[in-house]
Amino acid sequence: MSARPSATKEPRPFEGWPLLGFLLGLLLIALVSVAAMHPDTNGARMLIRITARSSLVFFLLAFTASASACLWPGLITQWQRRNRRFFGLAFAGSHLLHAAAIIAFARLDPEAFALATNRVTEFTGAIAYLFILAMAATSFDASAAWVGRRAWTILHTVGSYYLWISFAIAFGKRSLQGPVYPAAVCLLVLALGLRYGAALQRARRQGSRGALG
Ligand code: HEM
Repeated sequence: MSARPSATKEPRPFEGWPLLGFLLGLLLIALVSVAAMHPDTNGARMLIRITARSSLVFFLLAFTASASACLWPGLITQWQRRNRRFFGLAFAGSHLLHAAAIIAFARLDPEAFALATNRVTEFTGAIAYLFILAMAATSFDASAAWVGRRAWTILHTVGSYYLWISFAIAFGKRSLQGPVYPAAVCLLVLALGLRYGAALQRARRQGSRGALG
């Protein structure tokens, strides 16, 4: 999902750490405002929904970064690709806030929480969180070097697809609750299509290079 870290340069505005700070800062302001206006179970459920959706946006930006830059090389897609590590970290931050909102919901109204979730969701969700933590922890130069290229690639590839499936199920099963849910599933399918298209393009380029060589 996130980029394998590389040599860090001086960060520009809307790049790198300032970009991450901006995204998470904006999200925090929105969450604090909602919590202040609704300091109850409804508020906690709103926070769960907001963080699930912000997580989707950040996840998709990281998940499609390399594919977009490959299919449509340009200023915006290069910017997205350069910052994919930070979109991955923004996703991790947003989803940790999802966990905090879930804990608030479970504490405020244990009965409603029990109705809204089940053991399978909790188990598969816990695995997703292990992936998120491991991927975030290995998104730094030193930690990435420590795990090694092969383990890093396996972790980030398997983790990304596990998270893709988690989102597809979480949004898909709510499809009848409103148009935003099928729209989210469409975005996820589109993202997968982009990665597939980019993989085909790369294979074609390699093939023609091989034929020339
Ligand atoms: C142990 C882990 C998790 C628990 C206990 C949990 C719990 C919940 C609950 C209770 C809701 C519904 C809130 C409501 O009805 O108001 C919810 C919504 C949601 N969760 Fe989680 N979740 C977990 C992990 C995850 C993960 C890993 C993902 C995706 C990667 C995810 C994505 C979503 C989505 C997309 C929604 C729907 C938000 C909306 O309505 O727009 N959750 N979660």
